Amino acid sequence: MRIHIFTLFPEMFQGPLDHSILGRAAAGGLLDLSLHNIRDHADGPHRSVDDYPYGGGPGMVMKPEPLFAAVESVLGSTSPGFPVVLLTPQGRQFTQAEAQRLATEPTVALICGHYQGVDERIRRHLATEELSIGDYVLTGGELAAMVVVDAVARLLPGVLGSAEAAAADSYATGLLQHPHYTRPAQFRGWSVPEILLSGNHEQIARWRREQSLRHTRERRPDLLQSAPLSEEERRLLNTPDQLTRDPSSTD
Ligand code: ADE
Repeated sequence: MRIHIFTLFPEMFQGPLDHSILGRAAAGGLLDLSLHNIRDHADGPHRSVDDYPYGGGPGMVMKPEPLFAAVESVLGSTSPGFPVVLLTPQGRQFTQAEAQRLATEPTVALICGHYQGVDERIRRHLATEELSIGDYVLTGGELAAMVVVDAVARLLPGVLGSAEAAAADSYATGLLQHPHYTRPAQFRGWSVPEILLSGNHEQIARWRREQSLRHTRERRPDLLQSAPLSEEERRLLNTPDQLTRDPSSTD
């Protein structure tokens, strides 16, 4: 997959995306990240990329010309036929479902907004969609773009070590994850639940599913509305003491 990132601060991406799983994905040719500095496409002696807002008010606004020029010079046109995503707190909420959708695209462009905002013509005539990574305001779209790249890239075939790892994720199943344990079986007096040491795969799978249901009911009950659950699971959820408790849990 190819991801074009249009930003005023390409250096910010060096580091976070070069290491670990994403670094390997790039080295293995599964992910091709192209960084484009918007300022390279700005004219005038100062190569300015922002200006005062018409109508007055605080802050600066990102000018349309450099960004249109950057996108046109890299993508050939301003409607290249793939998602051109503006990262902005005004966007639709970025979710696992959005990550899955973007991961099916061969090419995606991400535009990192800055300053008080971007000129409305960028939003209307350059971006094909707007995404927000959460209900808070960052200093720019760069960290949001990194979040999107990370969440999308790990869904690409071959990027994670095992295909099941992504399928069992929180949110991919519609529920929060069950607890995980590794060695040692005893640590500072806290023990691993007996069932996980039993070798009984069927019971372990049932226990894990129950833990997922319990965690989700306690922490994110909103997810239960749309989670694909069996009749039996819905019944268990509605009867408070039916789900086994993780004995090590403090919930
Ligand atoms: N730019 C600033 N804040 C943002 C957010 N929450 N999501 C996406 N882009 C942003």
